[in-house]
Amino acid sequence: MLIILLFLLTLNIKIAHNEEPTLPEHVTYIDEIKHVRKICGELCNTSRTGIPGKFFNKINATVNCKALFENEYIDSTHGFPLAPRNIPEVFLQEFTMGGKIEVNNAYFNQPYLGNNARTPIWTKSLITEYLSQAKLGKLFGTYGISETNALRDGLRNAPGVKNGRILVIGSEKPWVEACLLEAGAKNIVTLEYGKIKSEHEQITTMVPSEYRRHFLDNTLGLFDAAVSFSSIEHSGLGRYGDALNPWGDLIVVARVWCVTRKNGSLVLGVMYDINHDFLAFNAHRCYGRKRYPYLSTNWNQYYLGKGIQRVHVFTK
Ligand SMILES: *[C@@H]1O[C@H](CO)[C@@H](O)[C@H](O)[C@H]1NC(C)=O
Ligand SMILES: *[C@@H]1O[C@H](CO)[C@@H](O)[C@H](O)[C@H]1NC(C)=O
Ligand SMILES: *[C@@H]1O[C@H](CO)[C@@H](O)[C@H](O)[C@H]1NC(C)=O
Repeated sequence: MLIILLFLLTLNIKIAHNEEPTLPEHVTYIDEIKHVRKICGELCNTSRTGIPGKFFNKINATVNCKALFENEYIDSTHGFPLAPRNIPEVFLQEFTMGGKIEVNNAYFNQPYLGNNARTPIWTKSLITEYLSQAKLGKLFGTYGISETNALRDGLRNAPGVKNGRILVIGSEKPWVEACLLEAGAKNIVTLEYGKIKSEHEQITTMVPSEYRRHFLDNTLGLFDAAVSFSSIEHSGLGRYGDALNPWGDLIVVARVWCVTRKNGSLVLGVMYDINHDFLAFNAHRCYGRKRYPYLSTNWNQYYLGKGIQRVHVFTK
């Protein structure tokens, strides 16, 4: 009896985990990545130069928004028993921008895509508590008080945040959302790998499959601004169970471009060192003058903020 129950439980968990699209068996991830490269077009060509900008070179590209949202591989799981430990040889050039980005090792296997996020229920009282700490400049958030305050400073300088409808990418705890409420945001939509239930009336949540679907059936609508702090630098590295994708980070930001209104803004905090871009595989990327121009393709460079994961504000 117990054994049957355990079996059923396992089955249940498996079903829950398989909600995100997985690859059909006859298609290899190599074919899938080559296909992504094709639909991504100019955006994924990292041998272009751009023109001098306020912070670093500015690069633009024609982006096929529909194709980027239609592609299922981008939002799928990597499908390996463990996250790959090394960059597949065939894609080394793509991951390193033709050898321009230094690679070192830092390995994690933290499958997350398809699971529940670490704080699956965001209660109203939790968010109210975070909000009052933010107002006092004392919200610890996920990365400490000074990083939280750097984000608050960025939000105050970001067009569209006040009274706006805001997209948040990747926030396990509602600290970014609390800072947004403080800055006067009206509605917040949080996109996370894991399902989160928000009990706050101004905050709703989405998983990647819902984000795709709503974009494709024209029910997503446009956002006045978007915010991401310490999330995008992981995209496409497999660490969190996501499919390998040399341009995973560029595509996340380009999709945000697609769903932000003209004159809206993007507030971005990622690992940053203007003089030293690197890829610690599979932990994260660090952005400097080599890759940041591609990460911020098409965005105008607007306000340079503070923090270790230095907050940058861009406008559309
Ligand atoms: C990428 O851009 C460079 C510079 O514009 C160009 O020479 C090259 O052909 C492009 N590569 C591809 C695969 O489109
Ligand atoms: C990109 O910028 C160049 C000049 O820097 C301009 O000629 C071109 O039209 C721009 N392309 C897009 C898609 O905005
Ligand atoms: C964007 O801002 C510019 C400059 O303030 C303004 O002229 C333009 O009408 C705005 N466009 C939209 C679509 O809001």
